[in-house]
Amino acid sequence: MADHTEEDITSVLHENRLFKPKSEFSKQSHVKSRAAYDRLYKKAEKDPEGFWGELAKSELHWFKPWTKVLDWKPPFAKWFVGGTTNVSFNCLDRHLDGPRKNKAALIWEGESGDSRTLTYQDLHREVSKFANVLKNKGVKKGDRVAIYMPMIPELAIAMLSCARIGATHSIIFGGFSAAALRDRINDAEAKLVVTADGGYRKGGVITLKEKVDEALEAAPSVETMIVVNRTGTEVSMKKGRDFWWHDEMQGASAVCKAAALSSEHPLFILYTSGTTGKPKGVVHTTGGYLLGATITSKWVFDLKEEDTYWCTADIGWVTGHSYIIYGILSNGATSVMYEGVPTYPAPDRFWAIVEKYRVNIFYTAPTAIRALSKLGKEWPKKHDLSSLRLLGTVGEPINPEAWMWYHAVIGGRRCPIVDTWWQTETGAIMITPLPGAIPAKPGSATLPFPGISAEVVNKDGKKVPPNVGGYLVITRPWPSMLRTVWRNPKRYKETYWSDIPGVYFSGDGARRDKDGYFWIMGRVDDVMNISGHRLGTMEIESALVSHPTVAESAVVGAPDEIKGTSVCAFVTLELGQSPSEDLKNKLKSHVVKEIGAIARPDQIRFTDNLPKTRSGKIMRRLLRDIAAGRESVGDTSTLEDYTVLAKLRHDDEA
Ligand code: PRX
Repeated sequence: MADHTEEDITSVLHENRLFKPKSEFSKQSHVKSRAAYDRLYKKAEKDPEGFWGELAKSELHWFKPWTKVLDWKPPFAKWFVGGTTNVSFNCLDRHLDGPRKNKAALIWEGESGDSRTLTYQDLHREVSKFANVLKNKGVKKGDRVAIYMPMIPELAIAMLSCARIGATHSIIFGGFSAAALRDRINDAEAKLVVTADGGYRKGGVITLKEKVDEALEAAPSVETMIVVNRTGTEVSMKKGRDFWWHDEMQGASAVCKAAALSSEHPLFILYTSGTTGKPKGVVHTTGGYLLGATITSKWVFDLKEEDTYWCTADIGWVTGHSYIIYGILSNGATSVMYEGVPTYPAPDRFWAIVEKYRVNIFYTAPTAIRALSKLGKEWPKKHDLSSLRLLGTVGEPINPEAWMWYHAVIGGRRCPIVDTWWQTETGAIMITPLPGAIPAKPGSATLPFPGISAEVVNKDGKKVPPNVGGYLVITRPWPSMLRTVWRNPKRYKETYWSDIPGVYFSGDGARRDKDGYFWIMGRVDDVMNISGHRLGTMEIESALVSHPTVAESAVVGAPDEIKGTSVCAFVTLELGQSPSEDLKNKLKSHVVKEIGAIARPDQIRFTDNLPKTRSGKIMRRLLRDIAAGRESVGDTSTLEDYTVLAKLRHDDEA
């Protein structure tokens, strides 16, 4: 591998370079050329139902075929109507008849270096057993199961077991607090919770069972808790409610037929932040979701039988759902799963894992790339990364500098990079290069996946000209789209299908260049993107206001070199309270307790007043400028009290 200097990485930034796939890569890929992509795209555009129907037949197993590809009563879609299938069957059983039987399905690496490999047969057995455990505890088709776990194989087993019997899982990221967990359990009315005593992170132990205990003090729907013994942390087990995973698994039968479920049966709920109120339970169903996850895994990651694939996301986020488990296992591929952080015990952990398992396809977030590139290229250079053949990114726009580092230092300038735009709601990748077909431009997610009709429009839904910014919308239903917000179809309609007439609005701004490439410009609402995860400012504000010293607060994002965006909270205290460093720390801890460490404010700024319009709306635009240290150039004519702004700036300089 040639040695590349930092200079030759940055110099490229000033060019609008096109990175064409190498012909050796294109030749062996699933979609081999721009012409092949265009053919697929046009075919899908001409006859979307024919296109998706054909793929559903060729890529998935059905117990009973569907009678209708799409039932579209805007904005409510049903895909593969009348068909029955099972996600766990597609991810496991169908691979057991041939040579995949003893192939690694999951290669798991613990943070402390322990590892476990589960073949398809192993995983099938564990899943069947745990599915029986769930049944024994009274879980039935349609019941909700909450999963709050570290990144251990039992997490994968638990979700596939739910899918096997038709229980709808709701996975709550292990970094969320007891309060956030409780809200999500209550919204879904989960009957059973699967957790662990704790998990390993940065060399220490994080407790989980303890947080579930706290959450369950006010979560009456939960009857049972199953606890994996991961860390040996002391926990108290409530008699009749709490059971150890290993005890229950011991006697469980390894025979459990996968239930034939309607294509529209809810597979999972996943909560995501919105602009207002509590998190939304995004609902994904069975057949359409699995088709989206499966075909994008195959074409975007160019998955082949012999590949070892690794996505570094946590399964608590949608990326882990679709691209560690469902889409990857459905293709019969080998998926690496890692428990810990990228920098433990040293900043080369990711690269050590790539070398150890000879990873071929590597999918991570720009925030991780930025953080790791800052630590220096001596860390990746310690390892043989020559097994890599394809790289991917997800979660936020990747800045060209980070893209070039990824390309040169990690990919050795030979691996295509797929910059994949999608959302919790879309279920699967929507805008992305197909790696053998579409030349990449650093920072652009390039073109829509075949079958996906994406556009950039103005408020009236009219297409904007090239290089003009607008709203990123999807104009036609697609199989892996969210079906609704859990028990709140009104919110579903209002959030996604009302701002712009007749289309799905993603909440993102974007532009298309003269080649039709999409450049994502970030959220247009008050939702922040912190390290590739969406956080509603509203939730953090409510957490702050719930502290007895706080009268009012406004949270905005500020640009951050590594995280993309950092959390900046403006806080007005109750009368009689005085600002102090100590109080700042207390408020930060309070947010962590209420929501989780991911929401911890990086900055707290005390202010006597917040800038408001005459109608009392907080002018976040101004606060964003102040947080970023920018002069406000925008219109301040509606500002109620000009002195507030001057004061905030003055405090900033002090
Ligand atoms: O703003 C976009 C950004 O992440 C949002 C979706 O967040 P979430 O539902 O948490 O899912 C993250 C993983 C799919 C989007 O609305 N985003 C995601 N991918 C990209 C991106 N922004 C730019 N480029 C991307 N590739």
